Amino acid sequence: MKFFVDTADIDAIAELNDTGMVDGVTTNPSLIAKSGRDILEVTKEICDLVDGPVSAEVVAVDHEEMLAEGRHLAKIADNICVKVPLTWAGLKTCKALSDEGTKVNVTLCFSVNQALLAAKAGATFISPFIGRLDDLNLDGMELIQDIRTMYDNYGFETEILAASIRSANHMKEAALIGADVATAPPGVIKGMINHVLTDKGLDGFLADAKKAGIKIL
Ligand code: E4P
Repeated sequence: MKFFVDTADIDAIAELNDTGMVDGVTTNPSLIAKSGRDILEVTKEICDLVDGPVSAEVVAVDHEEMLAEGRHLAKIADNICVKVPLTWAGLKTCKALSDEGTKVNVTLCFSVNQALLAAKAGATFISPFIGRLDDLNLDGMELIQDIRTMYDNYGFETEILAASIRSANHMKEAALIGADVATAPPGVIKGMINHVLTDKGLDGFLADAKKAGIKIL
């Protein structure tokens, strides 16, 4: 499973990038607003920092303007992936941009039918939002599983990008289901390493090494 980092925070991306955990980055207008940076500037910096796809989201609502925004974003760098909402205007824009060779991430997916439409429109990635479904006492992970089954039934090449991930457990479940990608905030990715027995075991090894005077360098 590829890891995308769901943030526009350059320092956080750089820190994780040094560990080899960053296969790409996703942003959205809320994350760009949180960064306090100009969208074109910060997106360019992220694209320069990471090798994989960097999703940058349009803010227009109608197709013509969305397409113009998408084309403008695509000029930022070769690894830009234009993010469009799951509306008819978004799907039309997805088809047009995909036909031009631009990667497209169709976002705000909450149903199997929406994922089917996105695949047929040529989406590179479909982003089902797990956490926002869980917030409504629905089952976000069940949606990932159902889209996996449906895409596999027909051999769609659109990659399932599990989004709106809130916990390390979400990462585990997405990986077990076979999501192609999971995008998560830096803190969630960092939290995946935690295990009390690792900490306890290491404390024991280090204490014994000190007692025995073990030195390597
Ligand atoms: C990523 O592409 C999405 O925009 C993001 O994961 C949404 O997460 P949220 O539901 O925590 O805002």
